[in-house]
Amino acid sequence: MQGIRLRASGISAVRIIKWAWIPLIIGVLSACHLDMYDQPRYEPYGQSDFFADGAAARPLEPGTIPFNREVENTILLTGKDENGEFVQENPLEINDNVIATGKTQFGIYCAPCHGNLADGKGVAANYFQQRPPSMYLERLRTAPDGYLFDVITNGKGLMYPYNTQVHDVNNRWAIIAYIRDLQSQEPPEGVEANPTEQPTFDPNATPTTTAQPNGTTTTEAAPQAGTPTTTP
Ligand code: HEC
Repeated sequence: MQGIRLRASGISAVRIIKWAWIPLIIGVLSACHLDMYDQPRYEPYGQSDFFADGAAARPLEPGTIPFNREVENTILLTGKDENGEFVQENPLEINDNVIATGKTQFGIYCAPCHGNLADGKGVAANYFQQRPPSMYLERLRTAPDGYLFDVITNGKGLMYPYNTQVHDVNNRWAIIAYIRDLQSQEPPEGVEANPTEQPTFDPNATPTTTAQPNGTTTTEAAPQAGTPTTTP
């Protein structure tokens, strides 16, 4: 009796396994909807009754630029002439408006590090192991305008490129016009007219630990004094 039962249940188990693929296949096939493929959508450059101009493709926003575009090799976009040399002069026609724009842009994008007075003493300056320099440095006074454009656009040393933040190249040139305007004048009180270079950061120098009033200490890698290797 027991043997028969076992045999019977054994057969049914085999059957289940044998036919199990049928519901499985049905399940899989019935899930294969073409809804995503057949959904209402426009083909590229297709027609549309919805838009007034009858075209499905929408015109690009003015000023749209393709990501990773090839940079045209113009002075305005690179700061370099056809020989790849930095241009000495700003390609913009400088007037009070340009300088005012440059001042605003400098205040937004450069002052946090280079200071509102362009003396390199911005609020974030001390977070850098290589401090941002003063714009009154002789080396930067005499650097070609194209070099300053290149520093803003591609960064330099620890300074990150500012081409995405100061996206409009005209504003980058306006910042340079403003810096030149500052440099041509007597610096305001408390700003050195002939500052010295920031010491070059040496990662191997012994760090200095300073006690803070609140009982904690700050450790700072000691910069190494010397002439920086950076030259325009
Ligand atoms: C987040 C901080 C920060 C901001 C913001 C910043 N800089 Fe700098 N900048 C630095 C630091 C740090 C250096 C020194 C980099 C080095 O030598 O490693 C530097 C260096 C420079 C130099 C000197 C390059 C050289 O030859 O030594 C120029 C010029 C300059 N910055 C211009 C600008 C201008 C213009 C802006 C605004 C568009 C700007 N920076 C925004 C941190 C900053």
